[in-house]
Amino acid sequence: MKIREETSRDIDVIRSITRAAFISVEHSNQTESAIIDALRESGALSISLVAVESNEVVGHVAFSPITIEGGRQGWLGLGPISVRPDKQKEGIGAALIEEGLRRASAMNAKGCVVLGDPNYYSRFGFEADSELFLDGVPAEYFMRRAFEENMPHGRVDYHKSFNTK
Ligand SMILES: CC(C)(COP(=O)(O)OP(=O)(O)OC[C@H]1O[C@@H](n2cnc3c(N)ncnc32)[C@H](O)[C@@H]1OP(=O)(O)O)[C@@H](O)C(=O)NCCC(=O)NCCS
Repeated sequence: MKIREETSRDIDVIRSITRAAFISVEHSNQTESAIIDALRESGALSISLVAVESNEVVGHVAFSPITIEGGRQGWLGLGPISVRPDKQKEGIGAALIEEGLRRASAMNAKGCVVLGDPNYYSRFGFEADSELFLDGVPAEYFMRRAFEENMPHGRVDYHKSFNTK
């Protein structure tokens, strides 16, 4: 399995994998593939990686800039992330996250946040911080991983593309 940056030829398959992966996710409103398209159109897809197995794209992860207390502080948000349903639980999601975090840090991002299951994301060094929060979300599901010592505090907002319906 290989991880590489997306190209324009991957766009359709990223859409279909994202739709297929989220279709059975209870808390999803099925807007994830439209969000990825909107991020791309806005130039806000800071990192977009695909996992490729036998020349087939089997997973995707997006990272985009967030604001903290209304300002860009060099932090990114991880997601949406999806792995083709028949390829889940083989480590592809973990490989996408680890490579994405490595690239984010190499791009001098200061840290990354994620909204999701703490049981999954804690294994990548993410942890909840009551002082870095997303409105309307239980604190334990919103986590951060800093790439440097300085820890920002306040309200986080994702890119406006996340309001796509
Ligand atoms: C979440 C997702 C990207 C993980 O990718 P993956 O390739 O299946 O994950 P990995 O193989 O790296 O890791 C599998 C492990 O994570 C666990 N896991 C996977 N998704 C999880 C989730 N949403 N919550 C908690 N644990 C999860 C599995 O139970 C497994 O645990 P184990 O290692 O103890 O056996 C994939 O399951 C997926 O596309 N899910 C549907 C879309 C989705 O929910 N995206 C994330 C929204 S926050």
